[in-house]
Amino acid sequence: MSLDLYSKVEHLLGIQESTKYLHTLYTEVLYNYEIKTLLDVGCGRGDLMQTFDKYDIECEGIDLSSLMVQKAQAKGLKVEHKSICEVNKQYDAIVAVFDVLNFIHPNELNDFLSCVHDSLNEEGIFVFDINTLHGFSNVADGTMMAEEGNMFLCVDALFENNQLDTKFTLFTEEDSRYTKEQATLSQYFHSLQIFKKLKDFKVVKSAYLDMYDTKDKALIVLKKA
Ligand SMILES: C[S@@+](CC[C@H](N)C(=O)[O-])C[C@H]1O[C@@H](n2cnc3c(N)ncnc32)[C@H](O)[C@@H]1O
Repeated sequence: MSLDLYSKVEHLLGIQESTKYLHTLYTEVLYNYEIKTLLDVGCGRGDLMQTFDKYDIECEGIDLSSLMVQKAQAKGLKVEHKSICEVNKQYDAIVAVFDVLNFIHPNELNDFLSCVHDSLNEEGIFVFDINTLHGFSNVADGTMMAEEGNMFLCVDALFENNQLDTKFTLFTEEDSRYTKEQATLSQYFHSLQIFKKLKDFKVVKSAYLDMYDTKDKALIVLKKA
């Protein structure tokens, strides 16, 4: 499955610094709210959840990649392989960090947001980031190669019609033989207007981020209305 191949190659993508930047930002945002319980949707290997260890916040995570879930569980984190619509508990805050909403097809976005709404306590907050059009077309679109240990990765991303298709090709060497794995991951542009028009949420913060370039991402905080 493409999310599992992403999990295998994530460490080769050179996104460690930007991940740290985002995690610090989310921690600062969440610090402004009285939060006792938190759900990290698309928690990946659980790095943000680990930073909450030192705060008095009960933190759980979900992810659709079973490989990511295994990696997070190996750190002792409370992480499950399930979608937000399978969650039947409510939290003070839900986060979806580093493009998670861009993985959701526009036709499925309303259902996703409705399940987030159902999983929040009264006045609970939902914090997430999305790529801007500029971020998709000028930062994400393009090719790269990376090599580490016995792994060699080619990435080829094309942004067209509000959709970014990223083809990952991974060669792994073992005993002088190469195995090849390939998958294409699709991500979708969502305009900020979509979130501003939601009836069940109030926008409490919407800010552009200059992560790799100028205004290539946006951070949004919604409050359950
Ligand atoms: C770019 S990674 C970010 C991981 C993590 N949030 C972080 O900050 O490092 C995106 C993650 O979202 C997960 N994902 C994508 N769509 C998802 C969905 N609908 N529900 C849950 N997880 C999802 C992927 O498997 C992947 O682990």
